[in-house]
Amino acid sequence: MCGIIGYIGTNENTEEIIINNLKKLEYRGYDSSGICLFDNDKFYVHKSLGEIKNLNKNLNYEIKSHCGIAHTRWATHGKVSINNTHPHLSFDKEWCIVHNGIIENHLDLKNELLEKNIKLYGDTDTEVVPNILSIQKGTILQAITKTIKKLDGSFAFCILNKKSKDTLFLARKNSPLYVAKNKDEVLASSDPVCFGEKFEYYYSMPEKTICVAKKDELTFYDFELNIIKVKKTKVSVFEKSATKGNYNYFAEKEIDEIPYVINNIIKSYSATNYFKKIDCNFLQSVNNIKLIGCGTAYHACLMGAKYIQEKTNIECSAYIASEFRYSNPHIDKNTICIFCSQSGETADTLLCLQLAKQKKAKIISLVNVPYSSIAKQSNILLPLCAGMEIAVISTKAYNAMLFVFYMLSLHMQSVLKQKKIKVTKKLKRLSKANFFFNANYIDDISNIILKSEKVFFIGKGEDYISALEAGLKLKEITYINCVSLPSGELKHGTLSLVDNKSIVFVIATKKELLSKNLASASEIKSRGGNIILVTNLSIDETSLKDIDFVYYFDKTVEECSSMLCIVPFQLLAVKTCLKLGYSPDKPRNLAKSVTVE
Ligand code: AGP
Repeated sequence: MCGIIGYIGTNENTEEIIINNLKKLEYRGYDSSGICLFDNDKFYVHKSLGEIKNLNKNLNYEIKSHCGIAHTRWATHGKVSINNTHPHLSFDKEWCIVHNGIIENHLDLKNELLEKNIKLYGDTDTEVVPNILSIQKGTILQAITKTIKKLDGSFAFCILNKKSKDTLFLARKNSPLYVAKNKDEVLASSDPVCFGEKFEYYYSMPEKTICVAKKDELTFYDFELNIIKVKKTKVSVFEKSATKGNYNYFAEKEIDEIPYVINNIIKSYSATNYFKKIDCNFLQSVNNIKLIGCGTAYHACLMGAKYIQEKTNIECSAYIASEFRYSNPHIDKNTICIFCSQSGETADTLLCLQLAKQKKAKIISLVNVPYSSIAKQSNILLPLCAGMEIAVISTKAYNAMLFVFYMLSLHMQSVLKQKKIKVTKKLKRLSKANFFFNANYIDDISNIILKSEKVFFIGKGEDYISALEAGLKLKEITYINCVSLPSGELKHGTLSLVDNKSIVFVIATKKELLSKNLASASEIKSRGGNIILVTNLSIDETSLKDIDFVYYFDKTVEECSSMLCIVPFQLLAVKTCLKLGYSPDKPRNLAKSVTVE
């Protein structure tokens, strides 16, 4: 996904305001960034590779402009280069645009332009758009509607036209776009997090709409150019811009926030019965439940499926969203589909939701961003209440997902058994858990990882899911390749990789599975592997003869212990990442939410 900004103001420091707001969107992509300042009838375009701070460096703050657009890019089509960096200009320099999304028919449109001898300077999908705009006849708005009707795929545009001074043209289809106005400024953004400081309300542009934004007026149209009314949304605590506070990285802050998040969920779910619609009537005909997500959210789905199946005896499975649509899923009105997504904008997950809707499934979603597409398109929203999660590495949102799934499983159990339980009351003690028990060992364990050549995470049942999540955390921010697998699977092949330069994390939180996990540990030890056991169980010393180090996390909490067990691995990934000199907030090649398939 990319971040786009559009701005009209009265003060002279337009560039600074645009750049400061663009920086709030940097979590969406940071391969390169660019800005266009519109001053009188001239476009001043600056671009730079890498983070936005590089753009700042060579900006010429002498230009007195009141209007501009900007973009921070996560490359999808076309390599990371200046030519592929937005904003993009038309061949006649009359139009300038920034774009979030993908123009799927860009090659056909490129050929149409080539037939008119219009050559492009880069290899992005986006660059066709300003040039198509330029060859349309009619008014500016007519050119825009004619152009967007030719586009397949997804777009959120901020558009400037040289003939329309201090006017932003905004258009969206399948990609969110928001706009806010106060008495002397207009700000458009791909995320309302930019409105927290200076705006009281904002408008979430409905699907397939256009907005003509001038300093004193916002006018919204549908794609047929009928004027439409759009209700405004009050800027809430969620949109207040997430700040790092005293932390160097959002990732460090967001892990530290986990206890607060669990408390927040308990408070919020005690105040509002989000489970209300999941009653006897809703559940009675259900014969299967499908949970769908990507990456960390998929791991949460695996855990949620375990919780729900154990508590309700309804068949429950988890699916990777990008695979789900191609697996010919059996979905009907007796299916519950539960979508899990921190951002609520992940294209793979959103497309599965739309398929499930077409097949009349009952739709529940666990989402952190309340104004997101998945949240809006679900029948029942179970909010994660985790606050803005900015770091690309998802941490507090994962713990929130596990906790909400666990509450959901208890609620479903109580409905089916017609046994009234106050879920939040039952789980209050979870918020008292010590999530950072023994965290003082993390630094040493991080050194062990850095000295090892191979890293493995193994476990059984829920602990295998924790092993998957622990591996993803380490991989995505340290770039250290590692293997996560069921402990029982090791001897069926992967054990051949284990040698005396390997570190194997064995996760064991279930007493009844401990002996099996220790047996796997013996297999590893006999091949020279080093073993760190991560557990909340009391284990007698004799059983630990093959273990090099035992990391005990808080053993006072039996239930939902996977929510605690993952925290040492989150801390370990961040600690190791920082020792390697990388950023846990902005790992290479990744973006916070992937809004393209
Ligand atoms: C997690 O650390 C990753 N950033 C990634 O796997 C992420 O969980 C995935 O892209 C899904 O994002 P979502 O929860 O916003 O849908």
